[in-house]
Amino acid sequence: MVDNILLKYNRPGPRYTSYPPATFFHTGYSAEDYKQSVIDSNHEKPENISIYIHIPFCPRLCHFCGCNTGIAKEKNHIERYVRALIKEINTVSALIDKKRTVTQVHWGGGTPNSIPYEYVAEIMDTLKTNLEFKNGAEIAMECSPAYLTLENIDTLSETGFNRISLGVQDLHREVLDAVNRLPSLLPMDVLFHHIREKGFKSINLDLIYGLPKQTPELFADSINQVLALSPDRLVTFSYAHVPWFNKSMEKLEKIGLPTTEEKFRLFGLAYEMLTLNGYVPVGLDHYAKPSDDLSIALREKKLHRNFQGYCTRETTGQVYVFGSSGISQLWNSYSQNIKDYQQYIEAIENNDFAVERGYRLTKREIISREAINSVMCNGYLNFDEIANKFGISEDELKNTLQYSAGKLSEFVNDGLVTLDNKSIRVSQQGMLIVRNIAMAFDPQLEVKQGMYSKTI
Ligand SMILES: C[S@@+](CC[C@H](N)C(=O)[O-])C[C@H]1O[C@@H](n2cnc3c(N)ncnc32)[C@H](O)[C@@H]1O
Ligand code: SF4
Repeated sequence: MVDNILLKYNRPGPRYTSYPPATFFHTGYSAEDYKQSVIDSNHEKPENISIYIHIPFCPRLCHFCGCNTGIAKEKNHIERYVRALIKEINTVSALIDKKRTVTQVHWGGGTPNSIPYEYVAEIMDTLKTNLEFKNGAEIAMECSPAYLTLENIDTLSETGFNRISLGVQDLHREVLDAVNRLPSLLPMDVLFHHIREKGFKSINLDLIYGLPKQTPELFADSINQVLALSPDRLVTFSYAHVPWFNKSMEKLEKIGLPTTEEKFRLFGLAYEMLTLNGYVPVGLDHYAKPSDDLSIALREKKLHRNFQGYCTRETTGQVYVFGSSGISQLWNSYSQNIKDYQQYIEAIENNDFAVERGYRLTKREIISREAINSVMCNGYLNFDEIANKFGISEDELKNTLQYSAGKLSEFVNDGLVTLDNKSIRVSQQGMLIVRNIAMAFDPQLEVKQGMYSKTI
């Protein structure tokens, strides 16, 4: 059943990790625009500050990787990168109102746990010196278990980290060998036990399906092993094969990639095993325990999302990024830094900012973003609530979204959406193809048709 829905709705469309999608960003958006957007953000909602720190380095590269990362080209490059990142924090935080508080810090990459831990502590100190942290702020790092020792976990805990995400991807040697990835340094149960002992509030675990050598039997075994570890959250990413972005993905083609149908089977398998074992599907390919903040926020229709993943409305902030390639997500704009880390360092050293492109949203786009986020995250949209929030009538809202009930009829007939005059609700299975449903609320969809890959 799950596979059939996925097959039927596997059509081109935006991923809606942002609205408008990144395909709208342009180089006419400059460092001056970003500066102004940061100043404007002090008077906009949410007041909270979310921080993203990007570390674009890994000791060894997985052939499937679609992230902005690489092996440091020279010995002193990590040091120079950290200096630039600290300079960027000092510059941008000088523009942020000191009454606002940080509720979230997320470290991603690359492999942030592979750089010397003194740098991690220095960056955290710089953030704490420049900005006020809210009590209990979520401080998370994406870690590769291949480089994670028990002492490293102690250091992260002492530096204030209270959440950890482990990139596991697959638990079988033949799959990991095929993608040039090292297994966990320590047995996973030992890592989990120690992380919990240190009082971390949440452990997330990433898996990928659609890799070479991944049979349904092996993948089911990975899921069973993961269930025994009982992570608070879990993501099963669909392997995105984009060899024009990363040439080493071609090596995976040679070994053999699963067909779309086989991939959907793997997804369906994970979905059924995880939901049967009590995990709540949260948005696309994410799962959480029923007691986890994300599941609670979903039940209360308060789930949010940014480029770093799902979050609750309580902790959501406007996102300020530091480091190469990251995208700041402010109320009225997106701003992306230069992707190449060496060019990023030079730009910060010479000009303080490293903005490569961005986008300033119109009021209509801000309204559409609210509607699309509501559908994407909570599978729910109440026209009244959104119209009230922006001080417009329901008709004006529907006109802004260019919405008509007819756009949803196929989903209604398939039992994936229910609607009345006031609201729409997406069923649990409808959430599997929620991107397609969100397209019904995107007034600019026609503009960029033909530029998108398939939605699933
Ligand atoms: C920055 S990495 C996580 C931290 C660390 N580097 C690691 O690999 O464990 C972020 C996540 O992106 C996912 N990812 C990377 N390349 C991908 C691709 N081509 N398709 C789908 N997911 C991908 C992986 O699941 C990975 O855990
Ligand atoms: S998946 Fe993680 S460890 Fe592998 S290359 Fe990408 S960022 Fe580095």
